[in-house]
Amino acid sequence: MGSVHISNKQFYNYIIPKIRRFAIQNFNYIMNHVSYLESNKDRFLNELLDLLRIPSVSADSRYAGDVKRTAEFIAEKLKAAGADNVEICPTPGHPIVYGEKLIDPSLPTVLVYGHYDVQPPDPVELWHSPPFEPVVKQTPEHPEGAIYARGACDDKGQMYMHIKAFESMMQTDKLSCNVKFMIEGEEEVGSGNLGPFIKTNRKKLEADVVLVSDTSMIGKDTPSIDVGLRGLAYMEVEVVGPNRDLHSGVYGGAVANPATILCQMIASLHDANNHITIPGFYDDVIEVTAQDRAELAKAPFDETAYKTDLGIQEVWGEKGYTSMERTSIRPTLEVNGIWGGYTGEGSKTVLPSKANAKISMRLVPGQNSQKISDLFKAHFESIAPACVKVKVTAHHGGEPVLTPTDSVEYLAAAKAMETTFGKTPVPTRGGGSIPIIALFEAELGIKSVLFGFGLDSDALHSPNEKYGLFNYYKGIETIPYFYTYYAEMKRGENKSAAQ
Ligand code: BES
Ligand code: MN
Ligand code: MN
Repeated sequence: MGSVHISNKQFYNYIIPKIRRFAIQNFNYIMNHVSYLESNKDRFLNELLDLLRIPSVSADSRYAGDVKRTAEFIAEKLKAAGADNVEICPTPGHPIVYGEKLIDPSLPTVLVYGHYDVQPPDPVELWHSPPFEPVVKQTPEHPEGAIYARGACDDKGQMYMHIKAFESMMQTDKLSCNVKFMIEGEEEVGSGNLGPFIKTNRKKLEADVVLVSDTSMIGKDTPSIDVGLRGLAYMEVEVVGPNRDLHSGVYGGAVANPATILCQMIASLHDANNHITIPGFYDDVIEVTAQDRAELAKAPFDETAYKTDLGIQEVWGEKGYTSMERTSIRPTLEVNGIWGGYTGEGSKTVLPSKANAKISMRLVPGQNSQKISDLFKAHFESIAPACVKVKVTAHHGGEPVLTPTDSVEYLAAAKAMETTFGKTPVPTRGGGSIPIIALFEAELGIKSVLFGFGLDSDALHSPNEKYGLFNYYKGIETIPYFYTYYAEMKRGENKSAAQ
């Protein structure tokens, strides 16, 4: 009898994948979500790359068609993963994608929230590869590779982990909670239409917990869970001087320059200790106790590495607080943009007729965005000298959030991370804002878990945004454990309540 000879290469490239595929197709019940992920890694990556190719910039109306296409993409993938009643819900702005899998009314329901819109890619010339042509590259931080594209981390990559985790649970028959998905397209412009949407869809959105991956963790080997987020009040100001641009030699010296006045006004918003000078600004701040500050200080933070990474000689901030505290438990005021006069090539001597700035304030628990926005307006108008007129308008806002670490949802998330990272996550407070989170609690009475897998170094909103493959796959691996532990812990909670 002749024997069939196969080479090692044939064995690994052909026979093994064939056996694996056969096993997946026929022995689903022996697979768990981890082996399912293992066998589908390449497809999970390629689907995300396809999603990243659609430029869903919510701020710029020129991309409205792409934003819509992205919603369609998400809806399709939700259906393919096994969701029922998938809809693309129109709003006066960009649509919200909804889908659900309700398996048993006696099980808890998880509402997954995420956003498929992204920030504008500007300044495009600083990207090493085009923002909407994703590439996977190795870096010292990500030797296994990172995906470079706008939205890679914030939030397409992190949001898509949930769809793939859901697919894995469906395919391996391991879904242990009911699940609803609500993926919006306006987070990066303030979620203005999501508030009304949740108010008119209370029944549809009923759930026990909101699960969100749109924040960072401390490091690849230091898992953490944000237990707080800052709120936001976003303002725009205009300082108007003479009724037209003037020759700066003919008039300069005798007429107030709105650009100079604007700079003086902005500079006066911080005092010598970098405290914000708006009267009443700190009145409602709930001071963090010394004990909580000590707890927060346990999270590792390397100030030298921080400075090197950012190319700065020294950190800056409110006197009496550490860098970590300045970006988490303290409110801040930042100029996001400032313009006026001639900014083109070469020089033009001109005394501009007006100057503008966009100014935002990050808020902490106790503060209210409407109140802060009113205080800012009143103060900014009051400090304007008589030689100019000022106009202050408010953009979007959002309230801060703070969640407990002893809740079932936090404990389930912590245990899930512990399972896959081998370390208990550190509770942290995020400096960024997701305005809708406070509304979920205020309007629907549902608490959120900020189950973030990104890194602060992922360059969110910056050129060369990235998301580590490690982080992407780790998220897909960890999420199903949340469902398992959450269902278990809720069951325990109900039992002890019944006794
Ligand atoms: N995902 C971010 C928020 C975030 C990032 C929180 C990292 C914690 C850590 C979100 O997409 C975002 O950018 N939010 C905006 C506010 C929004 C109203 C434009 C923000 O924080 O500036
Ligand atoms: Mn985000
Ligand atoms: Mn963002």
